[in-house]
Amino acid sequence: MDGHRSVAAAESGARRVACVTGATGYLGSWLVRSLLRRGYHVNATVRDAGKASWLLAALRGESRLKIFEADLNTDESYNEAVKNCQFVFHVAACMEFNTTAKENIENHVRTTILEPAVRGVINVLQACAKSDSVRKVVFTSSISTITAKDDEGELRSMVDESSIIPINQVWKTKPKGWVYVLSKLLTEEKAFQFAKEKGIDLVSIIPPTVAGPFLTPSVPASVQVLLSPITGDPELYPILTSVHSRLGSIPLAHIEDISNAHIFLMEHPITEGRYICSAGSCSLPELTDLLSKNYPEFSSKRFHENSCNSIHPVISSKHLTNLGFTFTYSVRDIIQQSVTCCVEGGFLRLHELQPRMRMTWRHSAPCLLEERSLESQSLKRDSSRDL
Ligand SMILES: NC(=O)c1ccc[n+]([C@@H]2O[C@H](COP(=O)([O-])OP(=O)(O)OC[C@H]3O[C@@H](n4cnc5c(N)ncnc54)[C@H](OP(=O)(O)O)[C@@H]3O)[C@@H](O)[C@H]2O)c1
Repeated sequence: MDGHRSVAAAESGARRVACVTGATGYLGSWLVRSLLRRGYHVNATVRDAGKASWLLAALRGESRLKIFEADLNTDESYNEAVKNCQFVFHVAACMEFNTTAKENIENHVRTTILEPAVRGVINVLQACAKSDSVRKVVFTSSISTITAKDDEGELRSMVDESSIIPINQVWKTKPKGWVYVLSKLLTEEKAFQFAKEKGIDLVSIIPPTVAGPFLTPSVPASVQVLLSPITGDPELYPILTSVHSRLGSIPLAHIEDISNAHIFLMEHPITEGRYICSAGSCSLPELTDLLSKNYPEFSSKRFHENSCNSIHPVISSKHLTNLGFTFTYSVRDIIQQSVTCCVEGGFLRLHELQPRMRMTWRHSAPCLLEERSLESQSLKRDSSRDL
């Protein structure tokens, strides 16, 4: 985070308070930890404080951390948490991917998921508008709002923040995870619109699939999706193939880099619009090859993906790197650390692979990996390079 005069530096000496919504989630909990390590005071919002005791335990009695209960579906519930904060990270989101409704599907999705999701983001931004203290909001978007396909359905060679998937197309085709795609598209659109009306400085970060170590007491969904080729999970593997089909590859980012990028964008004095934050990409055959070569004990038929042209669209993070952000972890690091964490944390039991070659997810302690080993595994790399 060198090379720019940060808001934090400009305020050195002042008490810096940031609110993080969705602090019990994968990204939210890691971001809380990163902010505390940089000396910020953090107001972390959770839906149910009783179920968030693991967060306090993982952060070992940090005195600069305050927990607030808030729900996106409850009006005014973010007011207290946001009060006196200079910065707000809106990470929480409804994580419904599909719907089980059989009739009036579109109406059902609209009224039970999308409208509440939009009210939720307005709820958070209303709290920001009411406070006299909030200087900047970072909204966590998603790569699911992006497509590499042009109007003819052909893959572009380069994908950036403007390659937004058309809402009408999502309603029409209802691809895997379409409910989530719509909710991310609509909430982000509404967030920018509301922020403009109220004069709030809002910036959006677009993470791809995020993986690596985790603080949460169970394996984050995105880590499970990434490792689905070796778990053979019939629900999760299609999410990976759907990402691959939409983007021509699987873009990835390490949890530490994603947290750092949130803070980087928050601290940077001149930011605008959306920022893709992808360390690099691999194709599905490359991912399965890497898993089977490095972890031969996992090898099975499910690794065999038809190889395709290894030249895939570049998912550009130039908008972010041009500001001075650098990635610490490569695609290879992300995959290796995800596997290591899941095996060492006791989430994946290798001996249970035989005879069905199926892994099972278990609940265990948070998986942090020692800082030293994280650092030694990392390779400094340019964001435009892939696997
Ligand atoms: N992980 C990825 O690969 C990835 C990629 C792209 C974008 N993102 C975005 O990053 C953000 C966090 O994702 P994640 O992977 O950390 O997911 P996660 O682990 O499922 O966390 C989601 C968080 O949102 C909270 N939440 C859900 N509904 C809520 C509501 N009605 N009111 C208040 N809080 C609510 C959850 O609280 P509970 O614990 O109470 O359920 C949880 O803290 C999301 O905006 C997601 O779209 C993630």
